[in-house]
Amino acid sequence: MEIVIVPDAPAQGELAAAAIADLVARKPDAVIGVATGSTPLPVYQALQRRREQGLSLDRARICQLDEYVGLPAGHPESYREVVRREVLDRLGIGDDRFMGPDGSAADVVQACADYERTLAAAGGVDLQLLGIGTDGHIGFNEPISSFGSRTRVKTLTRQTRVDNARFFASLDEVPQHVLTQGIGTIMEARHLILLATGESKAEAVALAVEGPLAAIVPASVLQLHPHATVILDEAAASQL
Ligand code: GLP
Repeated sequence: MEIVIVPDAPAQGELAAAAIADLVARKPDAVIGVATGSTPLPVYQALQRRREQGLSLDRARICQLDEYVGLPAGHPESYREVVRREVLDRLGIGDDRFMGPDGSAADVVQACADYERTLAAAGGVDLQLLGIGTDGHIGFNEPISSFGSRTRVKTLTRQTRVDNARFFASLDEVPQHVLTQGIGTIMEARHLILLATGESKAEAVALAVEGPLAAIVPASVLQLHPHATVILDEAAASQL
């Protein structure tokens, strides 16, 4: 695992965007896995700037990591809409080059299996961006998720619902259930880039990077990945 400590979030965004630019230069139709949350936003902004300066993403494909269950299609906080706003619209990528699990499906268990098949048919994920929850989760794989898990329905912990309540009018509106790529699914991506900023992530980062491999800290699985890059700001690195 490669750990890179940079001064701030914009520098983090530049570094991750550079890795994505290198990838699409080598493989124009690369599958890029994006994450939601606040942390990766500077990456998408940096990619937008690079695109304005000539970076071509004309064949790149985007896939989603996770999704809330039960939000109506088009809900502004559904991750599909967040990815549309923050990634697809910004980078001029159409729906035909986007893949995501359907959290509004009548049969969400089937939607998980369908998404696994979609990712496999796309040839797998070339580069997956990840944030980290304050409890060490990746995607929506909460503590004690199996390291071998596939895309499935999960129940959020209260902590994660509280952390994500800032995007909703109240805690009650944060869905209880989600669909998430499993840890085993995430680990099949050929390059993982985990980003963390701020003091609130410092403990989870230290446990993930320097602690024992443990299902209680889902992000610790990155220690097993052959190509994992962890990009931190000074505050997120403060307990290393
Ligand atoms: C959510 C997402 C994760 C994300 C996490 C941290 O739980 N499912 O993919 O990493 O939030 O979000 P933030 O970057 O806003 O701290």
